[in-house]
Amino acid sequence: MDTNSTVSRRRFMGGLAAILGYLGLGPDAELWAQATRSGRRRRPTEAEYDAFAKLSSNENPYGPSESVLEAMHYGFKYANRYGYPDGGILEAIADHHGVKTENVLLGAGSGEILKIVGNTFLKIRKKVVGVEPSYGSVYRHASGIKADAIKLPLLADYRQDIPAIIDTTNKNYRDVGFVYMCNPNNPTGVIVTKDEIASLLDAIPVDVPVLMDEAYHHFVEDPRYETAIPHVLAGRQVVVARTFSKISGLAGIRLGYAVAPANLIAQMRPNGTGSVSAIAKWGGATAIKDTAEQEKVKAITLKLRKKTMAELEALGFDCIPSETNFFMVYLGRQVQPVIEEFRVLGVRVGRPFPPMLEHLRVSIGTADEMDRFMVAFKEIFPAGKSVPTC
Ligand SMILES: Cc1ncc(COP(=O)(O)O)c(C=O)c1O
Repeated sequence: MDTNSTVSRRRFMGGLAAILGYLGLGPDAELWAQATRSGRRRRPTEAEYDAFAKLSSNENPYGPSESVLEAMHYGFKYANRYGYPDGGILEAIADHHGVKTENVLLGAGSGEILKIVGNTFLKIRKKVVGVEPSYGSVYRHASGIKADAIKLPLLADYRQDIPAIIDTTNKNYRDVGFVYMCNPNNPTGVIVTKDEIASLLDAIPVDVPVLMDEAYHHFVEDPRYETAIPHVLAGRQVVVARTFSKISGLAGIRLGYAVAPANLIAQMRPNGTGSVSAIAKWGGATAIKDTAEQEKVKAITLKLRKKTMAELEALGFDCIPSETNFFMVYLGRQVQPVIEEFRVLGVRVGRPFPPMLEHLRVSIGTADEMDRFMVAFKEIFPAGKSVPTC
């Protein structure tokens, strides 16, 4: 076992007691911590869940704005109905992107959109081409439906290898169901530039669909980035997936959508499940127009991301420059035990992302949560930097 990765029992217990006190948690939390120490995992109780600093799932810690809450409350008027007025959600999305409603498909989160794309374009033994690490649920879904994934490594600077994606797609043309591109990429936070997207679309056959997952679109500052919506407007076989989970704080409400040429939406639509609730539709129709709230969330999130990364870098730890509401820090040792150590200290951080098993993904929470992250980080790495640069 890597001795560096093992917190001494005394420090572990001391840290645990301190954090339980800090969180004001009673015997339940102690039982939970014992279960964690012994390797058994049970679902945390509500009190335990609430007490965690939740920096593991790239959520928006602030939740929906007042206006969105009001709209969702209004949506309850139709809680008992089918075929109800839906707040104009499709029109609101279509207007926002300058497309027609025939170019929009709703999903219960963009996760459902990703699955619909898989179910539509990956017949048995068809392949999705993308990079690893990326948002792995696309690849897991492919294997679940007896299709396959060709996962290409990232470049040394963590960018997606566009020439390799082009080459692989062209060489496997007859087998490729679609190309998956998460932009910016989860878990690295690194963008694909608009020029790179153009070069990809210019170089692969026009009938290969490209799924552009823009879950973190709203957090990007880099001027070399651009949404792929203009390619949809130009009639390319591009599906843009967007979510209300991140910038709009609606992860638990479940709302996402696809924007794509009408022929692709028509193929995808039969695979939809119609699982979006009236509450989600009313909330989404307001959220997409609430640009003031989006700006507010972006500003505070980026401020906290930059502050936290600067603090880690001052301790000697390298971070990958990010364009999202999360970032990766290089630990120089296996991440899994570190994730457990954070958990015991009341902080949930990202899971391992093979093959980057010495990097930790940290989502940006509230200022208080980021302070708790730094306190825990210094407890787990008391000597500061003890590792070579990545
Ligand atoms: C890149 C990416 N795409 C899609 C999703 C799915 O999000 P949701 O289903 O909540 O819209 C996530 C969630 O974290 C994500 O990181």
